[in-house]
Amino acid sequence: MSTTEVDVLPVRLEELDFVTPLAEPRKNGGERRRGVFITFEGIDGSGKTTQLKMLAKKLRTHGHDVIETAEPGGTAIGVQIRSILLDSKNRELCSATELLLMFAARAQNVEESILPALDMGRIVLSDRFTDSTVVYQGVGRGLGIEPVMTISRIACQGLTPDLTICMNIDVNTGLARALTRDMDKGVTETRMEEQALEFHQKVHAGYLELAKREPERVRLVDGVGEPEEIAGRVWDIVSRVVTSR
Ligand SMILES: Nc1ncnc2c1ncn2[C@@H]1O[C@H](COP(=O)(O)OP(=O)(O)OP(=O)(O)O)[C@@H](O)[C@H]1O
Ligand SMILES: [Mg+2]
Repeated sequence: MSTTEVDVLPVRLEELDFVTPLAEPRKNGGERRRGVFITFEGIDGSGKTTQLKMLAKKLRTHGHDVIETAEPGGTAIGVQIRSILLDSKNRELCSATELLLMFAARAQNVEESILPALDMGRIVLSDRFTDSTVVYQGVGRGLGIEPVMTISRIACQGLTPDLTICMNIDVNTGLARALTRDMDKGVTETRMEEQALEFHQKVHAGYLELAKREPERVRLVDGVGEPEEIAGRVWDIVSRVVTSR
């Protein structure tokens, strides 16, 4: 492009808004959302998917309008990104790529699926959300929590969960459960599970720290016991939040 062409650009540089602040995190994305946003977190194999499905069923029997979503994924584009992220063949995936792909899938899920559902007053249950990126990429990979939160403000439009159920289980039990499930069901999305034990321990510690920092939102639930028993613990917490709104 020549200097003359630059001179005739229809927009003058000083008119561009370089200082628009990033969206501040707001519970449920702000006042206009009528629904409830609940996320499930916890280390691999801690029982998130099992408990999310049980909760969805129970909420529906109580007449609630519930949608379920899982991250990374949740949309057609998100599912394509998920396959890159979780394929055990992708060993060379670097930490920054992993971080940005997580948020790329999440941005699409927030815009296309979660915010519209909350606007309609539905209960959205998400199997993992930004807390996973905080602890896996921020803490586990050592990228730092601040960079993760900065990208979150762009990708999630300020959306944070109303409530986060964090399944608490020790790392060895979680990994053993995940391994059994993968063998039984022929699951191949094992790239994260295959990380070193030390990585999973950092992730676990990261979740405990999150629960300490935000005890109102992030509720630790003991993940040891029969699934029905754990579902009772989850229901005690969720039913209060759902009925208080
Ligand atoms: N309370 C429980 N006791 C024993 N086994 C359980 C319990 N809850 C779930 N499982 C089993 O443990 C395995 C892992 O559970 P689940 O897939 O729900 O965990 P997850 O947290 O979603 O794992 P991932 O992070 O890998 O998605 C599954 O085979 C599941 O059937
Ligand atoms: Mg799961």
